[in-house]
Amino acid sequence: MHGGIAITKDIHWIGVNDRETDLFEAIWPLPRGVSYNTYCVADQKTALIDTVKNGYFPQFLEKIRSILGKGRKIDYLVINHMEPDHSGAVKVLRESFPDVTIVGNAKTKDLLANFYGLTENFLVVKDGEELDLGRHKLRFHFIPMVHWPETMVCYDETDKVLFSSDAFGGFGSLDGGVFDDEVDMSYYEDEILRYFSNIVGRYSFQVQKAIKKVRTLDLNVIAPAHGPILRKHPWHVVDLYDKWSRHEAEKGVVVVYGSMYGNTKAMAEEIARALAEEGIEKVILHDISRSHVSFVIRDIWKFRGLVLASCTYNTELFPPMQALTSALQNKMLKNRVLGICGSYSWSKGALAALLQFGEKGDWEIVGPHVEVCSAPTQEDLESCRELGRNIAAAL
Ligand code: FEO
Repeated sequence: MHGGIAITKDIHWIGVNDRETDLFEAIWPLPRGVSYNTYCVADQKTALIDTVKNGYFPQFLEKIRSILGKGRKIDYLVINHMEPDHSGAVKVLRESFPDVTIVGNAKTKDLLANFYGLTENFLVVKDGEELDLGRHKLRFHFIPMVHWPETMVCYDETDKVLFSSDAFGGFGSLDGGVFDDEVDMSYYEDEILRYFSNIVGRYSFQVQKAIKKVRTLDLNVIAPAHGPILRKHPWHVVDLYDKWSRHEAEKGVVVVYGSMYGNTKAMAEEIARALAEEGIEKVILHDISRSHVSFVIRDIWKFRGLVLASCTYNTELFPPMQALTSALQNKMLKNRVLGICGSYSWSKGALAALLQFGEKGDWEIVGPHVEVCSAPTQEDLESCRELGRNIAAAL
């Protein structure tokens, strides 16, 4: 991992691994880090695809040198996406390679000026335009809102490599293996879904448009900006993205509870038991006070059934549950079966708030809506079991 890693004869991965940042975008936990993938195409002309987060420039420079040697200049820096996890080293790269031409679209140009004050020596490309490096030609395809308005991908027509930016990438550093045939992809697929559902999923409509463009390409390799390079099954993650952005889900239920003293937890567990008795094998329980919302949203994106059970706090939803429902509204997820339960002791609030949340979204709401005062009675628990059975039937 000291130097670059060859993808083809002329194309190398020269990315870096970040195991130091705790929270991506200062929100999303990184239990196993993240990689900032950048690539070098060394032809008659040389081009880098993206840079790395600020602070990782020394390792990045070392990798550039390992491919190009000390004397060779960089002709082009292509910026597929301006979010600073990729553009953070642009300014210092320009200082080290003053002649480099920065390549992006008109929106990239504005963001580059606003973030870094860089305006000189910028080549504006249009959707579908080509950059000639010699044997290799990079063709640009704009995929706005996957993940920012300026986001684009570029496709090397010679080796059939797609540099896909955030699309098809995910959390998780590259720990030795960098290709999909070198790593445990089940782990990375979970993290690709967590990246997709929390960061890109809101823009599912635009993801569908991007997928239509990608499906026209003859691909050998997808080289995303995070996570493993896809060379064994490049279409597999595209197919997953297609499914996720159509809001399709697997058979299974996520039960999320917010409980201060265990009474709402008991309701959630009763529902989970009923689901299991009805033959639902994939039932995931999350204590919303302890599971980070990014993992909860990932699982909700994966499975068709969702139960939200919350205690009341100061006449409203329990705050961590409030944060989850607010995040779900922001993601605009559709096509889920929803069951709701609330509890209270001296003033109601949670159930009504959950019902309001469900009615605002595109959800199939299944009853009964169980509301419990202080601690569930046997009758309340039977209502929870009925809810579990009805959700199982609706899947
Ligand atoms: Fe990996 Fe939207 O940045």
